[in-house]
Amino acid sequence: MNIQAFFKLSYGLYVISARSGEKNYGCVVNTLQQVTAEPPMLSVAVNKNSVTAKAILDSGHFCGTVLTETADLNLIGTFGFKNSEAVDKFESFSTKEDENQIPYLTEHVAARYSCDVAGTLDLGTHILIIGKVTETEILSDEPVMTYDYYHRVIKGGTPPTAPSYKGNLKPKTEEKPEKTARWRCKICGYIYDGDPLPADYLCPICGQGADKFEKI
Ligand SMILES: Cc1cc2nc3c(=O)[nH]c(=O)nc-3n(C[C@H](O)[C@H](O)[C@H](O)COP(=O)(O)O)c2cc1C
Repeated sequence: MNIQAFFKLSYGLYVISARSGEKNYGCVVNTLQQVTAEPPMLSVAVNKNSVTAKAILDSGHFCGTVLTETADLNLIGTFGFKNSEAVDKFESFSTKEDENQIPYLTEHVAARYSCDVAGTLDLGTHILIIGKVTETEILSDEPVMTYDYYHRVIKGGTPPTAPSYKGNLKPKTEEKPEKTARWRCKICGYIYDGDPLPADYLCPICGQGADKFEKI
């Protein structure tokens, strides 16, 4: 099978969130999509290791938001590479709560969908969750973040937990060489300006060590 064929699929970028017990959960996904209009339903594929997935299944609710192009690597690094049990991902962002007391981002997002879990399908590594939309909100008219924009302009990476994981991105061949050497985190795409990269350096976005950086 030619896996390059999968790279032709296009996506957007989203944050899904949930609340279970007294705790807030959230993660970046590229797999949120509308599947029916009447009734309005969304689906999302979540990795079984994601604690947000567990919170969604435990609580029976989730909230999806559409990221805009203004979302930066700090936001995507927080929600896309960290664990909601280890850090409060929402604390440094402006948020509101939906009808199920689930927090959602109010900046760098274009729309919000609050959902009840209507069904699930076990896909091995991931669970496909179907959500019945109970409330929607338009939050901005900024252009929405596409997966292509995230990789090409923001130069972000994708962790193996994303169904669309393509391995580590290499710099594009048409990129001009930098005057000073720089280092790129192979996990999240964060760029360290300067050379050498300190041996004890930790990526400020995803927390990986210097061994996960490549010179560009
Ligand atoms: C660009 C991008 C796309 C992602 N897409 C998905 C996805 O569709 N499904 C998924 O389960 N995880 C996806 N992830 C990974 C999760 O966001 C990541 O594993 C997160 O740390 C999980 O957080 P949690 O354990 O707090 O739930 C994606 C991450 C990035 C950066």
